[in-house]
Amino acid sequence: MLKYFLFSLFLCAKCFAQNQYPLVPLPARLVETEGQFTLLKGQKILLTGDVLSKQTLQLFVNQVNISTDLGLSLVSTGTSNVSFTLVKNTSLDEEGYKLSIKKDKISVEAESPRGFFYATQTLLQLLPPQVFGNTKTEGLAVTLPCCEITDRPRYVYRGLHLDVSRHFFPVSFIKRYIDLMAIHKMNYFHWHLTDDQGWRIEIKKYPKLTQIGAKRKQSELGHDDGHNPPQFDGKEYGGFYTQAEIKDVVAYATARYVTVVPEIEMPGHALAALAAYPEFSCEPNKTYKVAEKWGIYEDVFCPSDKTFKFLEDVLTEVMAIFPSKYIHIGGDECPKEAWKKSKFCQDLMKKQGLKSENELQSFFIKRIEKFVSSKGRKIIGWDEILDGGIAPNVTVMSWRGTEGGFNAIKQGHDAIMTPTDYCYLDYYQGNPIQEPTAIGNYLPIEKVYGYDPSPTGLTEAEENHVLGVQANLWSEYTSTPAEVEYMVFPRAAAMAEVAWSPKGAKNWNDFAYRLDGHFKRFDALKVNYAKAFFDVTASSDFTDKGQLQVRLKTADDIKKVFYTLDGKEPSDKSPEYERPILILKTTKIKAKTITGRIFEQNFIVHKATGKKYTLKNPPSEDFTEKEMGLTDGTLGIAPQDQSQFVVFDKDLEMTIDLGEVMPISKVSTNFAKIIMLGTYPPGKLEVSISKDDKEYREAATLPLSYDLLGPWKLEHAEVQVKGRGRYIKIKAQNVTEKIMALDEVVVE
Ligand code: ACM
Repeated sequence: MLKYFLFSLFLCAKCFAQNQYPLVPLPARLVETEGQFTLLKGQKILLTGDVLSKQTLQLFVNQVNISTDLGLSLVSTGTSNVSFTLVKNTSLDEEGYKLSIKKDKISVEAESPRGFFYATQTLLQLLPPQVFGNTKTEGLAVTLPCCEITDRPRYVYRGLHLDVSRHFFPVSFIKRYIDLMAIHKMNYFHWHLTDDQGWRIEIKKYPKLTQIGAKRKQSELGHDDGHNPPQFDGKEYGGFYTQAEIKDVVAYATARYVTVVPEIEMPGHALAALAAYPEFSCEPNKTYKVAEKWGIYEDVFCPSDKTFKFLEDVLTEVMAIFPSKYIHIGGDECPKEAWKKSKFCQDLMKKQGLKSENELQSFFIKRIEKFVSSKGRKIIGWDEILDGGIAPNVTVMSWRGTEGGFNAIKQGHDAIMTPTDYCYLDYYQGNPIQEPTAIGNYLPIEKVYGYDPSPTGLTEAEENHVLGVQANLWSEYTSTPAEVEYMVFPRAAAMAEVAWSPKGAKNWNDFAYRLDGHFKRFDALKVNYAKAFFDVTASSDFTDKGQLQVRLKTADDIKKVFYTLDGKEPSDKSPEYERPILILKTTKIKAKTITGRIFEQNFIVHKATGKKYTLKNPPSEDFTEKEMGLTDGTLGIAPQDQSQFVVFDKDLEMTIDLGEVMPISKVSTNFAKIIMLGTYPPGKLEVSISKDDKEYREAATLPLSYDLLGPWKLEHAEVQVKGRGRYIKIKAQNVTEKIMALDEVVVE
């Protein structure tokens, strides 16, 4: 009890106190001390360091001078109470720094200019948030709270990705993206430059790549599953970066200690290139067009000498403008149909002794790896490059879960972790009903924050092969810079802390608390960040007496929640949520925080609410989110988010025990139809009832027919029953042999 009381006091203190150290990511070691340092007008900053250190600090000085009237200047002689000193042979690593802020002096030490850069990012975050703006705030009290910081990153690779093929973003935005990365101490920008829907990098030797490959005739409208069959906008869409522009971006990034890793996709996701040069496909006489629809295409590069020559030429130009040690060659989602049909490929497989098309893919990647390695660079590939045998000297980007990364490490390779469940920022971050169209699924910031990139089961030596972690933004449903910012922030801030801060220092509530301060920086930077963090979410469970109760929650557990049970709009005059809400009859709960959006959900009380059930076949292991979710009184609302449903990859056979014999008149549920994910309602629904769980009487069978086209939606199915029973058996045949997602089974 005392503990709870103290914790409440801590939270309350946090409600009212201004956090003086809202650092994101949290430094490795921060000691808060009393007092503050005030920067004065005309403040000199003394640097003992090299030319690169000077350029690095100049970025800091410029930013403070743009946003304040301080007029800071950098000096290399004399004395000053603000000093940066390059030191040698210390235990700080290349990216580390030591920062001491006392009432009368600030001193920074680093082993390299890179360390200074991160020290200045920390200093900016200790200053008022207005320093992130690009307009002057006159008379701003420019104070920094005293502290002692010793900092260094947990991982050497702290990545953020952007797909510029599905939608193209201008150079000005790419630079802003890099700025936003740098603020978060992220250091690898993975630039996804080529894909089926557009080739976005000028290659001088192959001009058609951009003349033809950078444009598509039209683009798919809305979501693949929102309009099935797809609809198109009828508007030509295109864009690419010249080599001069790319060099400019690379220089810009380099100055901010961000390495730009280009991705040139092969052998799949190659349609835009094949539209320009069909001779590099397995069917050169076929006409290819730059893809207008999202998804995966069977037309891929053919592993011919001609294709390899082309790819080597492309990579040669790429390596000339990207100094990065790593060159990403894709390798993901390469259908093998074209190779299976191709006589050339089948002959090649025989000649090379390759037993499968997966081995042919491995042959492809090995050949490219050899070329890239011969130029002194290293390839990164998505985890499919493990299939059919991994090439030497490659780094695996683990996206289909973590196994790819784990297996690569066990085979002596490096890995970068970017599993979809934690790192895909094209997933929804709030209630799909209230969010802009996303690819599907649900990845709230709290889940991103909870990710630990180092898989369990590695030895200490193997752990060193986890280079780091990356968040990805695929841009099918994100077409403007503002939309990119919305999807990426604040979740990338959580990922930055996953990547930088020591494992033991991570604490969600503390992060959530610092995030409020971080949002003020985003405001100063005019970042269009998502506000789902301010929303209310709910969970339900049952009391000891078996009554349904609903818990309302905010991400930070601090914000006040106001709610109504009568359907009226909640406001700060509505009751404040204090304890779980008992649901004794079907009720709509509406709730909100002062700054969040309205939460709204129906909780239903029916004869099976809270009743136990058994399943002949367990739910699909791939979707374990909702346990006992078929009688929890909670209705799923958005087919976009599969976690709201219970998902089966086998037939459903469910037996509910109502506890006593009673009249039953109706059994109903909703099935999600999500065609892109292969989620379909069943072909029929059978309901039978029994008084003793031995003898069952068929109550009704409902043949279901539904359109395989049309948007994703919830298909309602209900069966009229006449009789009395205690046990209800519900069978749904998974006729499609795909997956079936259903919601609450309502018994009336
Ligand atoms: C990927 O998401 N296809 C790497």
